[in-house]
Amino acid sequence: MITHSRSLSVLILVITSLSLGLMAVRAGGRDTPAADLAPVTQAQVEPAVIAPGAMDAATTAAVERAEAAIRALQVTLVGRLTEEWNQGGAASAVTVCRDEAQPLTRRVAAEHEVALGRTSHRLRNPLNAAPAWAVSFVQSHAATRAADAAPVNVDLGDRVGVLRPIATMEMCTACHGDAAAVEKSLGTVLRKAYPDDKAVGFAVGDLRGWMWAEAKR
Ligand code: HEC
Repeated sequence: MITHSRSLSVLILVITSLSLGLMAVRAGGRDTPAADLAPVTQAQVEPAVIAPGAMDAATTAAVERAEAAIRALQVTLVGRLTEEWNQGGAASAVTVCRDEAQPLTRRVAAEHEVALGRTSHRLRNPLNAAPAWAVSFVQSHAATRAADAAPVNVDLGDRVGVLRPIATMEMCTACHGDAAAVEKSLGTVLRKAYPDDKAVGFAVGDLRGWMWAEAKR
């Protein structure tokens, strides 16, 4: 009888601790989704910059693919721009940027299997708005000189995001420089294509904007 009641209390103890354990597990289980569903704060959507020393092989390969696409786009656009410029100056070259920049960007992106674009804190074409992960970065560098703008790589989970600064050079000011001068030479064509043009007033050495790319790693 004594033995029996002892084993009964042992059994109760085991059941109690088991159910306590289960409760702890369930509490833990509840905690996880609750934390996942917490509202995303501003700090959490800030891009997580990858330190240059902290790149594994897959990340390095993805950054290299992104950079290759960015270089290809730069060479293609500047090539077409220069070609047209030599034919008929800014008035002729402006149609290259207007009619070819978007399709050329899509073509280079597809060829390199990346997402790709050009953006700026002061846009000419709203289609060139920065991707969500780059918005705050681009805006926070609005007053940065081109020489001080450093390239950056961002952790996007299964992808890497890459931003490379674009400097304003002498040739660019024909279409992005002094507002009155640009208005005088190209006002009609620019106003028609870009009624909300903010991409004037840049001087040589100013940060004109950024090339960006996303590549899978
Ligand atoms: C002949 C006129 C012309 C010249 C020269 C020119 N651009 Fe542009 N630029 C444009 C036009 C037009 C667009 C809008 C293209 C589009 O619709 O995507 C543009 C768009 C851009 C954009 C995309 C962001 C935005 O504002 O929409 C960047 C970045 C840019 N130009 C940088 C430069 C740089 C750097 C140079 C000099 C190497 C340069 N441009 C020279 C006409 C020009």
